[in-house]
Amino acid sequence: MNIAKTIDNARKEIGRLRSAGKTVALVPTMGALHEGHISLIRQARDYADYVVVSIFVNPEQFGPNEDFDTYPREPEDDLKKCRDEGVALVFAPSGNEMYNEQKFLSINISSLNSQMCGASRPGFFEGVLLIVNKLFNIIRPDFALFGQKDIQQFQIISTMVREFNHNINLVMAPIERANDGLALSSRNTYLTDEERLTAPGLYRALQYIEKQVIDGVHTPKLLIEHQKSELEAKGFRIDYLGMFSFKTLQQINTLQKGNIYILAGAVWLGKTRLIDNILIEF
Ligand code: PAJ
Repeated sequence: MNIAKTIDNARKEIGRLRSAGKTVALVPTMGALHEGHISLIRQARDYADYVVVSIFVNPEQFGPNEDFDTYPREPEDDLKKCRDEGVALVFAPSGNEMYNEQKFLSINISSLNSQMCGASRPGFFEGVLLIVNKLFNIIRPDFALFGQKDIQQFQIISTMVREFNHNINLVMAPIERANDGLALSSRNTYLTDEERLTAPGLYRALQYIEKQVIDGVHTPKLLIEHQKSELEAKGFRIDYLGMFSFKTLQQINTLQKGNIYILAGAVWLGKTRLIDNILIEF
């Protein structure tokens, strides 16, 4: 496995990998790799000859009061996991390598980030697009894999690929969960033992709403409000919980046949923000 810390070296390595017409799949990450990331790496192997993993805690996607400084960093463990999974190249640049000059340009997002995580994390998806756009230009992969866990991120990146004509096929991979249903996340390490026991409540609330919707509740507003109260009673602080259009990422009150919806929530448990979602093909 090769490790590139500079853009130049990454480009050289990619050139070498591609030389015999081989294909490349990219798995962008912020490190602290867990089974969710590993599942993306394994799926990537099905799409291309070589898997490239990027590891970069992107300062541009953290707000001033967010956890950039305390975000888990485990470089040695990450490299070992990548090696064990047969990754061909890890691109792990420094902050200066990625953002070494004054920035004159930025990417604007309209409406796709007005709700869900975009509403509570201003600038977050602009920061994600900035880094993913750079990674796509540096690695120029044939495929890039992202997790359904960050479904708004996937939809916004898909839109960038379409509108900016990146020649990349995107793949959305299913959510990896712990045995009790909690979606795996690098931030789960922030949970206390007690919070960790409560944490699967978010997924259970989503599953309960999903079942009611499938059983015929097509205007789920009251049902959702009720689940919010239940979660609050268990100690969660609600950021949002709702039904959104998969296409527009706007909240939906009445479900209509033939559409795809995202039943999604973001909640706080102590100092940990948890997100989760279920896709509903109606
Ligand atoms: P990070 O949170 O490290 O996640 C990297 C990728 O792993 C994302 O595509 C995310 O959706 C996926 N992932 C995380 N938890 C998962 C789980 N439980 N099951 C399946 N996939 C999971 O998302 C980012 O980093 C960054 O925003 C990034 C795209 C790298 C840009 O900086």
